Amino acid sequence: MKKAYLFIFGLLLFGNAEILAQVNLIQNVSARKTVILDGVWDSQVDVVGVGSLARFGLIQDRKPTKFTYNGDNPRNTELVEQDMDVAEKINVPGDWNTQKEKLFLYEGNLWYRKKFAVIPQVNKRYFLYFGAVNYEATVYLNGIKLGQHKGGFTPFQFEITKELKSGENKLLVNANNTRGEDNIPTKIADWWNYGGITRSVYLVEEPETFIADYFIQLEKGKLSEIKGWVKMSGSQKAQAVNVEIPELGLKQSVQTDTTGYAVINFSSKKIQHWTPQTPKLYDVTISSANDNVKDKIGFRTIETRGTEILLNGKPIFLKGAAIHEEAPFRTGRCYSEGDARTLLTWAKELGSNYIRLAHYPHNEVMTRMADEMGLLVWSEVPIYWNVKFEKPEVYANAENQLLENISRDKNRASIILWSVANETNESEPRLQFLKKLLEKTKSIDPTRLTTAALLPKEGKGEFSLDDPLGEFVDVMGCNEYIGWYTLPAELASSIKWTSKYQKPLIISEFGAEAVAGLHGKPDEIWTEEYQNRIFENQVKMLNSISFLQGTSVWVLMDFRSPLRLLPIKQDFFNRKGIVSEKGIKKMAFYTLKTWYETK
Ligand code: GCU
Repeated sequence: MKKAYLFIFGLLLFGNAEILAQVNLIQNVSARKTVILDGVWDSQVDVVGVGSLARFGLIQDRKPTKFTYNGDNPRNTELVEQDMDVAEKINVPGDWNTQKEKLFLYEGNLWYRKKFAVIPQVNKRYFLYFGAVNYEATVYLNGIKLGQHKGGFTPFQFEITKELKSGENKLLVNANNTRGEDNIPTKIADWWNYGGITRSVYLVEEPETFIADYFIQLEKGKLSEIKGWVKMSGSQKAQAVNVEIPELGLKQSVQTDTTGYAVINFSSKKIQHWTPQTPKLYDVTISSANDNVKDKIGFRTIETRGTEILLNGKPIFLKGAAIHEEAPFRTGRCYSEGDARTLLTWAKELGSNYIRLAHYPHNEVMTRMADEMGLLVWSEVPIYWNVKFEKPEVYANAENQLLENISRDKNRASIILWSVANETNESEPRLQFLKKLLEKTKSIDPTRLTTAALLPKEGKGEFSLDDPLGEFVDVMGCNEYIGWYTLPAELASSIKWTSKYQKPLIISEFGAEAVAGLHGKPDEIWTEEYQNRIFENQVKMLNSISFLQGTSVWVLMDFRSPLRLLPIKQDFFNRKGIVSEKGIKKMAFYTLKTWYETK
């Protein structure tokens, strides 16, 4: 048996060539004609990943049949060792770790199955759109492999017009969150590796030729020039497309070319620009012969001038917090409006006009709510710590996640910064890897700023920024933990900050840990007083940095991490939140709020 298994494992490992999901994602999927496939799904844990072995018949949903031996095929057809019909149930969206006690620590394969009935219409096309699956997804429809996707925080889709059946369809997803050196993120990260189908799944119906994608934003540095493009998908690519912004009295009819592409440009002196105080969103309609898409888009410019950051041409100081996609109160991966509104409301209560969505693209609910609530966003791909920068396949994966992130959120006014890395050690392969990503970012989206969270060089009484990557980003991010990981808190205000680059600086992380409700003397670690003492000294230092244009405290809310082992104090939680996961605001929250009121 073992021999047979080894042969089949070979098949498993080197099976058929990878069919990667499409990058040209349907823009604004929630505004399309969809059936949302969320809810209760069948699920099967598959620790060693045998489920995709033909012998198991899981992919074909094979059922036991009467074993009629006719001398040639000895296989016992009554023997079937899987049955999704009676398998355990699991909710989608949602990580599996917080749904089932036994899966809390589980990393590996888990099979999801959803049956859904549909009667496909003629002249219509159908897509399956996944908001996110952590980490690697292999997707089958009615036993046919649609393809794979790597990356746990960005959307992907498959066209299923051919595979879709009239009546009952069986959608099978293998989600595998096994960590790997060559993955993005790589093996070790300071957040919980929540596995599963963590965001909504859509069955999308589109006309044969439809408005697949569009980009509508103000031209870089131009307060009255709206510039962008539309892209059609289908056989009638070259056709007339209308773009309307009724409130501004703007309407333009463009002719797409044979690739389905057309440029849009409007000018208007009447635009009320999007700002955190007045997050104005305009209704925008894009229509073609058989399609019509509505979106809510805000218009603002974002630039740098020397060490300043300019929003709509005026200097702005970014005051905010970094946020992990950890759900308040219930914990686990966020996915709902409620999760997003709670977190962003705490950020607003802190006096924030900006948030860093760390360390990976958060769900679209969050970025659209930032648009609505008026919070500027630092958006990031999880190129974090010890990435294998020398490997081309690692670059391809990183670039793909960057493309998916920008594709999904390019029309969000709130997003001002695309970040390509966090705390990555200097090396030539790293520099070349990240430079390429920065160039790619600019080539796709010249309207926004690029950044990365760098590490300072710690000298005697001086912290300096001279990371070679600093030359290629628009804005330098820098993480520092004076008072917690390094140096006594009281030394902070005597630290002189210098930079090799004439660029704006955002202190993208600073902070310390405390157990909410634990009180004591300011020199008693883990108490709120100890954390607050560090914040009081941080604020003095931050006030003294001349080229500082923003701060995002690490972190808004305590979050789960496999690196935080201290019983009773941490219990797998990073306690650097200024709010606990149960919503308790710590003393440091108020110290920072007071400082933000002065900015
Ligand atoms: C790092 C890192 C974070 C981490 C934080 C911490 O700077 O970027 O992901 O959580 O430090 O140590 O708490």
